[in-house]
Amino acid sequence: MHAVPGPPQPGLSAYNAIAAGYDAQVQGDDWMRRVLHAHYARVFTPGMHVLDVGCGTGIDALALARRGVHVTAIDFSGEMIAQLRAKLSCTPEAVLVEPRVLAIEDLGQLRGEHFDGLISAFAALNTLEGPGGFARDAADLLRPGGRAILHVLNRFSLWEYLGYLARGNSAAAAQVGRLRTREFTIGGHSVRHRLYFARELYESAFAKHFVLRDVYSLGALRPPHTVQRLPVPLVEALEWLDVRCRRWPLLRDAGRFCVLDLQRTPT
Ligand SMILES: C[S@@+](CC[C@H](N)C(=O)[O-])C[C@H]1O[C@@H](n2cnc3c(N)ncnc32)[C@H](O)[C@@H]1O
Repeated sequence: MHAVPGPPQPGLSAYNAIAAGYDAQVQGDDWMRRVLHAHYARVFTPGMHVLDVGCGTGIDALALARRGVHVTAIDFSGEMIAQLRAKLSCTPEAVLVEPRVLAIEDLGQLRGEHFDGLISAFAALNTLEGPGGFARDAADLLRPGGRAILHVLNRFSLWEYLGYLARGNSAAAAQVGRLRTREFTIGGHSVRHRLYFARELYESAFAKHFVLRDVYSLGALRPPHTVQRLPVPLVEALEWLDVRCRRWPLLRDAGRFCVLDLQRTPT
């Protein structure tokens, strides 16, 4: 018997290629991860079971496990999951984390399992063709009252806009916030990302089964780590402001990322 080839998975080679160096690559966004982890800590308590969607090398899964939360961590990249397994082989929290190679598009395979919460961080959802299928699967997999915390690339980034203006490229600046897709080069491969505004994403895909508990931006004021010529005290001050002002109306849609905190409604 021959295995039936599955549908092509754009981006898979890209993420496999960067898996070994991934943690070092994302270190510059540690400040943002700290905000996310504080959010998880407010919502998920020890003993809960959380699904980490597009878990990568498991940075968030391990942070949750350290707090006594059980995590099923899925990713379509076997290399990312291999990194996570290597970390688990030398950590006492290993017993709380179950890594699985699984595409987000195949989450339906988990039907019958029920989770108290779901997270998806650092743009794993931006590479999907659209959010509808994921939203339906998330609604099936979450218990009523369960929370989903989604951290996705935002369509408009104030720093990107200002960067183009500073370089005198007003045509590119005018496109920031208008483009719905963008190609990023990851591990030498071009990977298409869909860009969202948080409320629009909620209304279009999640409103039927979820209440929007919270929404905020990250990286509207704090410069990206790639901007290196600013003095550290200024960056720290902007980071402080970023975290405190992340729900302000004008800033809410101006971060590099936005965060949606959704609660599954009773069926
Ligand atoms: C930028 S990384 C983020 C990893 C992790 N969530 C984090 O916070 O560090 C995006 C991850 O999403 C995974 N991913 C992208 N598209 C996916 C898909 N369709 N199914 C499963 N995983 C996917 C990639 O393999 C990669 O590990």
